[in-house]
Amino acid sequence: MEQIDYKIEILRLKKEKNAIILAHYYQEDDIQDIADFLGDSLNLSQTAKDTDADIIVFCGVHFMAETAKILSPQKKVLLPVMNAGCAMADMIKPADLQKYKSEHPDTKIITYVNTTADVKALSDCICTSTNGIKIIKHYLDNGDKILYTPDQNLGKYAMKLLGKEFEVWDGCCPIHHYLRKQDILKQKEIHPDALIIAHPECQLDILEISDYVGSTAQLISFVKKSDAKEFIVCTEKGVLHPMQMQNPDKKFFVGSPTLNCHNMKKTRLEDVYNCLLHETNEVFVDENVRINAVKSLDTMLELSK
Ligand code: 13P
Ligand code: SF4
Repeated sequence: MEQIDYKIEILRLKKEKNAIILAHYYQEDDIQDIADFLGDSLNLSQTAKDTDADIIVFCGVHFMAETAKILSPQKKVLLPVMNAGCAMADMIKPADLQKYKSEHPDTKIITYVNTTADVKALSDCICTSTNGIKIIKHYLDNGDKILYTPDQNLGKYAMKLLGKEFEVWDGCCPIHHYLRKQDILKQKEIHPDALIIAHPECQLDILEISDYVGSTAQLISFVKKSDAKEFIVCTEKGVLHPMQMQNPDKKFFVGSPTLNCHNMKKTRLEDVYNCLLHETNEVFVDENVRINAVKSLDTMLELSK
């Protein structure tokens, strides 16, 4: 049987169908390499909103494609692997948030983008790891009572930075949450000159020993600007690809081999090709849910300017 050159075929289909491929930094290297736009959660939401493509192929996990659909309802949004989910997004159910809201009607709900459309629709404002601190501060400065959902770690980090207490949901990203401080210290012993850089989904004990904390895009930009030559990277290992490509003279060590999100790694070139060819795996969002979810996402995009 004739072998398909997926890269060439994807390029052809993209042009033919006026499609754009968006990919998160945690995707496999070959998926990152064929993307028209590679970014973190915030950049990807902004791009999904602004693109004039007819089809968005979202190489990421389900909530990301859903977010693109919420922001660009007239476009066809395709997710190459339908069961690429997110363990953190599964940790908050709309019914539980609805119950909390009826018991705390005066509390503003700030929700991390790693959630389903139904949860976003119940929230006042969305945030990502890039703008989370800024958005939480905005509400606290306004004198609001807030609940931050579902990532307890970014919530606790914000409390520490801002010196204020607020309620946080009990969720987490297991990939970042179970990273152990002792593993990072061991890496530091082996690479004493390396800077430790971490994503705020890690626990506070990791963030406290880090030289820099930021979202994936912020970490990538930090290593580019830094004079240091070695880095111990405490986030999903996919980011090492753009870091290494942009900084061939620097060395990057993943904090632990467990920093590997299997849902992010499900997408293969063949899946991208098939869903673009047949226009399958379309992601839909109920219009009533979308109308409420877009308000909370637009509030985030407005507050991030
Ligand atoms: P950012 O893309 O905001 O850095 O978040 C990382 C993440 O957990 C994506 O699933
Ligand atoms: Fe979800 Fe964590 Fe995977 Fe991101 S890395 S998709 S937060 S499980």
